[in-house]
Amino acid sequence: MLPWRCDATEPERGGVVDFDGRVVIVTGAARGLGREYASFFATEGASVVVADIAADAATATAADIALTTKGRLIAVGVDVADPTSTVALAERTVAELGRVDVLVNNAGIWGDLERMSLIDTPDAYWDTVMGVNVKGALLCTQAVAPTMRRQRSGRIINISSMGAYMPSGVYGVSKLALNQLTYALASELGPDGITVNAVAPGAIDNEATQRQVPPAGMEKMIAGTFMKRAGTASDVFGMIRYLASDAAAWVTGQTFLVNGGFNTRL
Ligand SMILES: NC(=O)c1ccc[n+]([C@@H]2O[C@H](COP(=O)([O-])OP(=O)(O)OC[C@H]3O[C@@H](n4cnc5c(N)ncnc54)[C@H](O)[C@@H]3O)[C@@H](O)[C@H]2O)c1
Repeated sequence: MLPWRCDATEPERGGVVDFDGRVVIVTGAARGLGREYASFFATEGASVVVADIAADAATATAADIALTTKGRLIAVGVDVADPTSTVALAERTVAELGRVDVLVNNAGIWGDLERMSLIDTPDAYWDTVMGVNVKGALLCTQAVAPTMRRQRSGRIINISSMGAYMPSGVYGVSKLALNQLTYALASELGPDGITVNAVAPGAIDNEATQRQVPPAGMEKMIAGTFMKRAGTASDVFGMIRYLASDAAAWVTGQTFLVNGGFNTRL
């Protein structure tokens, strides 16, 4: 075979999306957007690990989702910023479900509007946000990488944010760093058949936004979109689903903005 000919290790299945038999870990899935992503994957047949630092809430969420979906659900308490904890997450997943096909690094700390100033950011807050939003994604990826390498396949999807392109304190810094982490990890894991991409949502109408963003701030962000509405978990999942599917086998190292056309002036 000519050296440049395709020698793909994954089946070529065009646009077929089918998560039956796939194993998906979603971090930060006890509530909010992570919970919705876990539910969507389970609805499409995946076995899903609901992983969260709030272990009891993760257990309740997994039980709730299992009531209405066909996928198998397990809950795992994990602190994504702690390497012992992330290794235990990967080990438990493989022990109970046999493999890891998709890792969604969704756990994140955001929305502390009192802490938007970098000049006034306390040292400890910087470490906490960077520890969860950046190092957390790296540690979870390191933990699942040996299994994905053995499988010679895997999908890693990092949940970034439109905040990466706007002044938004340490949060924005952490999400832009996450985009670079995505690119660099993609180059390391690509030869093993593993893709790494990021999805950067805009303003989403969910419980965290309602809790943390004042209505005037939300209205301003919506006015800045081409679509003139906030996004939904389902809008974001459309991209996650694509990146997790066989259709995206040759897509890696990219950050995809899903923000209704918000002008971030990249
Ligand atoms: N909601 C939005 O509008 C929006 C927009 C852009 C990006 N995002 C990103 O989407 C992700 C989810 O946001 P959300 O709105 O659902 O937030 P959320 O605060 O409702 O949920 C975050 C989840 O992460 C968990 N978590 C926090 N620290 C953790 C740790 N150390 N280890 C494990 N789990 C931990 C929390 O317990 C919680 O369940 C975040 O990464 C956020 O930055 C959200």
